[in-house]
Amino acid sequence: MTSNAQRIEILQADFLDSRLYDEDPGAGPLRLSRGAILAPISRAFDLAERRRSGHAQRVAYVSMYLASEMELDPDHIEGAFFAGLLHDLGMAGAATAGVAPTGEASGDSANWAEIVKTLNLHCEIGSRIVRRLGLGEDVARAVQHHHDCWDGSGMPGGLSGERLPVLARILAAADRVESLFDQEASPLALRRTAASEIAAMGGSELDPKIAEVMAELARDDGFWLGFYGEELEPTLVSLNYGGMLEGTPLQEFIGVIADLVDSRNGRTPGHSRRVADMAGRLAEARGIPAVRTELVRTGAMLQDIGTLGVPIALLHKPDILNVDEMATMQLHPTYARDILSEIPRLGPAAWWVACHHERVDGKGYPGMLEGAEVPVEAQIIGICETFEALTNDRPHRQAMSAADAFDIIRGLAGQRFEADVVDSFEATMEESLAS
Ligand SMILES: [Fe+2]
Ligand SMILES: [Fe+2]
Ligand SMILES: [Fe+2]
Repeated sequence: MTSNAQRIEILQADFLDSRLYDEDPGAGPLRLSRGAILAPISRAFDLAERRRSGHAQRVAYVSMYLASEMELDPDHIEGAFFAGLLHDLGMAGAATAGVAPTGEASGDSANWAEIVKTLNLHCEIGSRIVRRLGLGEDVARAVQHHHDCWDGSGMPGGLSGERLPVLARILAAADRVESLFDQEASPLALRRTAASEIAAMGGSELDPKIAEVMAELARDDGFWLGFYGEELEPTLVSLNYGGMLEGTPLQEFIGVIADLVDSRNGRTPGHSRRVADMAGRLAEARGIPAVRTELVRTGAMLQDIGTLGVPIALLHKPDILNVDEMATMQLHPTYARDILSEIPRLGPAAWWVACHHERVDGKGYPGMLEGAEVPVEAQIIGICETFEALTNDRPHRQAMSAADAFDIIRGLAGQRFEADVVDSFEATMEESLAS
């Protein structure tokens, strides 16, 4: 088992290498496909679910492979991609409804009724979010029914047989294969046993025809090379599925993901959207160019994405965290950097989010950067988040007034933030409070 200290060391090994995060000056306004955003972000949801990183991406890969082997049309293949990436994202929401995700449930309390309740809820919440993301009814229904079994032995009240949408049947088979991988110690062992294990599920858990196609695929080395390949994430990103987004629709799309993160964290609804809004205004007021300002806004919207890697009990703890818990909590900027830096164009935003808890006096985390090493954009995100956090209720304290929050932030000038950033923050906020 890797200790916290080891994990931090591994994650921070290349932390200071900011060359990775330079902006491409000729790239024009921010324009991204839904697929290119969701493929890396799906790893944040794996973290929340305590799955091996890349679970959702591998399920997407297997689903697409199956759909194309079955000669379904391009729309279905694209649907299989999104269904795979998003099938378990409802877990993050199921946890906040007072039910722990399966991976976080303790052995004693995890009784069957609780598990069924969690499974039902994550299907339900997942399909609702898929609709909000504008990914269509086929994908929403696949997510809704991905734990239903062909023979009706799955979720109470679920569908069975031909009544199950074909994408749900494909997704179920892909999810089973990935789960076999999760249980196996070595890729080789899985390569040897998967075909017969999948074939045995045909007619009971899985559609017999799909199980047959899947078993055939599991005998193909080309399939496994892609499944285990390091190129899987960039390949999924480069497909650019789901249409391109820019401007308000792009921010709205990212906002839906941020809402889910806020709800898992027990934040006041709209927390991330307000931080993004403030950060965008502050960046603009400081004369940061438009494209870079949009990157600040995007980074601010997703500044908490890395908290999906922090156990829910810590996020909701109504008390001060102990040293070990604090170390776990402090991984969130690094998790965010690793995920966001895989989204095209978001490199600079990934770097700023990574640095949003750094302090100009060198006492921040995770890199203990100092002075000008702490990017101004990271300070903008940090100061807006601090203000938003202070003026809203948290598990360990009540909300304070804007005036009191300003006082606290003023006291951080020259310590956490440059004095100059504090001044422009106050000016911008006072202006908008007055209007
Ligand atoms: Fe699931
Ligand atoms: Fe899954
Ligand atoms: Fe944070």
